[in-house]
Amino acid sequence: MIPALMPTYNRADLAFERGEGAWLYATDGRRFLDFAAGIATCSLGHANPHLVAAITGQAAQVMHVSNLFRVPQAERLAERLVANSFADSVFFCNSGAEANEGMVKAIRRAQAKSGHPERTRILCFDGAFHGRTLGMLSATGNATYLDGFGERAPGFDHVPLNNMNAVRDAITPETAGIMLEPIQGESGIRAADRRFLTELRAACDEFGLFLGFDEVQTGMGRTGRLFAHEWAGVTPDVMSSAKGLGGGFPIGAILATEEVARHLVAGSHGTTFGGNPLACAAGNAVLDVLLAPGFLDQVNDRAALLGRLLDDVVRDFPEVFSERRGMGLLIGLRCVPKVGEVQAAARDAGLLVVTAGDNVLRLTPPLVITEADCEEAAARLRQAATAVRSTVLEAAQ
Ligand SMILES: Cc1ncc(COP(=O)(O)O)c(C=O)c1O
Repeated sequence: MIPALMPTYNRADLAFERGEGAWLYATDGRRFLDFAAGIATCSLGHANPHLVAAITGQAAQVMHVSNLFRVPQAERLAERLVANSFADSVFFCNSGAEANEGMVKAIRRAQAKSGHPERTRILCFDGAFHGRTLGMLSATGNATYLDGFGERAPGFDHVPLNNMNAVRDAITPETAGIMLEPIQGESGIRAADRRFLTELRAACDEFGLFLGFDEVQTGMGRTGRLFAHEWAGVTPDVMSSAKGLGGGFPIGAILATEEVARHLVAGSHGTTFGGNPLACAAGNAVLDVLLAPGFLDQVNDRAALLGRLLDDVVRDFPEVFSERRGMGLLIGLRCVPKVGEVQAAARDAGLLVVTAGDNVLRLTPPLVITEADCEEAAARLRQAATAVRSTVLEAAQ
């Protein structure tokens, strides 16, 4: 019989009753170090007192009023995002896929309203992941995710990442913009080269296209800067954010320059829940922490320490790991055996991690991890790798 909860996920047989910082406590009494963080979402860890106080305080005041009225919490969050990014204006929604849908709408509308209604196509990249709505499935382009869902939504073209010749060849008079993750997450923590990003910006300027960054996973401090594109010094025209923005509370955002945003006039785009007082209270609490002096430096210090510790694990277990990838606290460890086996062994060792494409183990810990958390994670991963190695060696005999 089908379960009441639709079976769309391969869930581990684990449930949690409480969390604290980077730790999760399961209903069966076990304690896990959470280096999944809700897939790069619980940026402040679990039960962060400041975030909890902001959410409970706001819930006790007013949760939702609709966008028929001013929402001061949203105005404040938007102003702070604008003050700390390339953007001039922000639209709030509820998820990453929805933010990306809005980003594509913003690009198309800006082209249409500035005299180019024929420019509707978006150039995307092989290996991308932009979400599961019908539109974003087509932007993602992965045949597995599209299976059984009918025709692809039109308007998305795909080329290989880091190949500027392919990009230039694919640009047509109907191209409206280029959309990419500065570091592809789902397909295995694959970074766009800095030079490639610079050349994409130049091509957009040359052909009158808009550059859109999907920073749903890479943004909000995950790579050690507020947004990953800052490392490359390349500025988009529009960007999506979600995941870490609410620290676990659902909220997404489209951030755009005035040139793009000014065409999203009243009535052109909207959502019931987007930017409600509760979600924006969460977003403001997250920003309080991320923007505090020294916080992102601390993220970079932790990332450097964790990187060193993980490099030692990779070096000591060549039968299990072949490579470390990523930036900041968005880390990939390419596995030799099937990544699912390594993930299961890590779980047995009390460490929660995520998988990604290209046989990569993905580590996306809370941004607030301590040095002790990093040491503990490396020790647990070492324990997992020891178990996997003995299975691999046994199988070889
Ligand atoms: C880069 C990127 N874009 C978009 C999404 C979709 O976000 P959501 O699941 O909130 O719709 C994800 C989710 O993993 C993502 O990693």
